[in-house]
Amino acid sequence: MRFFSCFLSSLGVTFALAATNLNARANTAPYELKNGPLDTPWTQKVGTNPWPEYPRPLLERKDWKNLNGVWQYQNTNADGINQPPFGVDLPQSVLVPFCLESALSGVMESNRLYSWYRTHFDVPREWPAGNRVLLNFGAVDYEATVFVNGKKVTTHTGGYWSFTVDITDQLSKDGPNELLVFVDDPTDKDMVQIPIGKQTLSPSHIFYTPCSGIWQTVWIESAPSTYISNLQITADMHGKVEVKVEASDESKLPIEVTLHEPRIGKPTERRDDKSEPIAKGTGSTLTFNVDSPKLWSPDSPNLYDMEIKYGNDTIKSYIGFRTISRGVVEGVERPLLNGEFVFQFGTLDQGFWPDGIYTAPSVEAMTYDLETLKKIGYNMVRKHIKVEPALFYRACDELGLLVIQDMPSLRTQVIDPNTRPDCPGWTPVADPKTTQEFGRQLELMIQQLRSYPSIVTWVIYNEEWGQPRVNPPAEFEMVDRIRKHDTTRLINSVSGWHDHGAGDFHDNHHYANPQCGTPFYSRVATPYDPKRIAIQGEFAGIGHNASFENSWKVERSLREVDQTYELNASIEIWNYRAHILLSELLGQVERFACSAAVWTQTTDVEGEVNGMLTYDRRVLRPDLKVWNEDIRNLYRAAARRGGRKVEG
Ligand SMILES: *[C@@H]1O[C@H](CO)[C@@H](O)[C@H](O)[C@H]1NC(C)=O
Ligand SMILES: *[C@@H]1O[C@H](CO)[C@@H](O)[C@H](O)[C@H]1NC(C)=O
Ligand SMILES: *[C@@H]1O[C@H](CO)[C@@H](O)[C@H](O)[C@H]1NC(C)=O
Repeated sequence: MRFFSCFLSSLGVTFALAATNLNARANTAPYELKNGPLDTPWTQKVGTNPWPEYPRPLLERKDWKNLNGVWQYQNTNADGINQPPFGVDLPQSVLVPFCLESALSGVMESNRLYSWYRTHFDVPREWPAGNRVLLNFGAVDYEATVFVNGKKVTTHTGGYWSFTVDITDQLSKDGPNELLVFVDDPTDKDMVQIPIGKQTLSPSHIFYTPCSGIWQTVWIESAPSTYISNLQITADMHGKVEVKVEASDESKLPIEVTLHEPRIGKPTERRDDKSEPIAKGTGSTLTFNVDSPKLWSPDSPNLYDMEIKYGNDTIKSYIGFRTISRGVVEGVERPLLNGEFVFQFGTLDQGFWPDGIYTAPSVEAMTYDLETLKKIGYNMVRKHIKVEPALFYRACDELGLLVIQDMPSLRTQVIDPNTRPDCPGWTPVADPKTTQEFGRQLELMIQQLRSYPSIVTWVIYNEEWGQPRVNPPAEFEMVDRIRKHDTTRLINSVSGWHDHGAGDFHDNHHYANPQCGTPFYSRVATPYDPKRIAIQGEFAGIGHNASFENSWKVERSLREVDQTYELNASIEIWNYRAHILLSELLGQVERFACSAAVWTQTTDVEGEVNGMLTYDRRVLRPDLKVWNEDIRNLYRAAARRGGRKVEG
């Protein structure tokens, strides 16, 4: 855990009194769905086997077992890690993978800084003897220490990243295995600086309820002794495919790739036909060409299912053929998809849920948001300072939604060291150690997400949240760190505010009116830089006060709905305002250098009531006829500026 020593010592004082005698607990209260401030149409359907799907579609193994479901839980203190409750029942139940603040978790409590999770599992007898057993976590916020049958097997830091540990040597042959996880999640407690995105311990306005603990699927799987631990796949518009295998050890084994017919949408049947391999080789990288591939784009999101054999490890994956680049089209710097300028229009997508907080109640619910965006006419989402489960990106690949992926930001406030004389080491925004850890986790994000075709752009800093005030500006080094792992996408170094010229975009944030690629600008923005691509990284945000039944029923949120954005209680008036803003954006696409724009936002979140959908996803605000036409006009205007032609 990387934070300041004065934070640690103050916690030690605060929590010394809260120590409990774990051995005194004998019974575990049963799981019960809590009655939260707001539910969704999916809340009641979750049951106790949530998220049953295989969670990692780009690297899918056949023999696997989902460990989601009801586990035991106990809140603890910093010292808890020194007394693991081996063999002891914990007092509460929690539904994994929903974070501790959520109604679906059955806990729904705040300030879960230190936690114990406990469960048991059997390894299926039919799994090949001699294979390894891997334990996988989709994500645990923020730091997880994992024990299997009384032995510590790993510690992992960072709330958004998947991790895997080989637990074969810790397993017992007969009888169930005990799995204990200690979680430490300070969020923004005492000004700690870690990637947290929109989470805060005191939610208000544009900052929301935090997520603590396990919030993505936990599973075990069977793999041979040398197995694929990560993949880097690229497939471009000319049919060139590169498959890079990262393996669990240094051995150079035979590698084979089989490719299937393209599909649009979900795979309809299991891919167990016996096609011949398209390419064979030895070692970690295989490169081959496919003639006239059907390209991936938002209009026709063609995907090719694929099998990769590496030694004795066989996994399923998929690819989409497309090329992201930039180029000058009729005198203006543009983002190119498959060599053509495609205007990108999307929403700011927070990925919060009233019932699951950071975890959608189900894959169906998560996909509903994305399908709604397609229906309105969007072709992009800006995944805002959060990283989603892999199945989110698969849904974007299958639906044809371009993804602008933000790195989760650090806490926003600038701390004046003069206000903390008790903490002499305290520095504003982000000190070098914090920036180093931010950079380490930025690289984890690229390594985890770089094979999804839908992701077109990486965003490093949102506004100045965690952006250090140093010279030279930190963005330049962060851009280089990304390029080390991925040269196939564009980079937006700073979305909004303090731009210093790094990366491929000049990004203006302005509310409510857009200033997209315009010669005029406001406040912390800078004049449009014609050497880079112009994007309106955020605009609009206009509000509509939902009725009480569709609102987040927390007193402070209800009180604050009119304190962030403009507000009116009429959906007709909201649509009238939206039409004006979209017309203004249209003028900027026609006249200036506007190449992409992001409307704030997909859904309401807590006291922020400016979504396409209300927070419970029950009310859709856009008048679809008008919006469809307004958005099609943006694409048509871009086509007239040398962009890709639009049907209809
Ligand atoms: C693959 O499996 C076969 C049969 O079990 C075994 O003989 C061989 O050593 C394995 N190869 C590797 C690289 O593990
Ligand atoms: C917004 O709606 C909520 C719930 O119906 C209500 O309590 C609140 O007073 C309204 N606020 C404003 C500013 O209209
Ligand atoms: C919304 O706007 C209309 C038209 O200006 C106005 O008559 C109405 O009072 C407004 N409603 C609220 C709740 O602000």
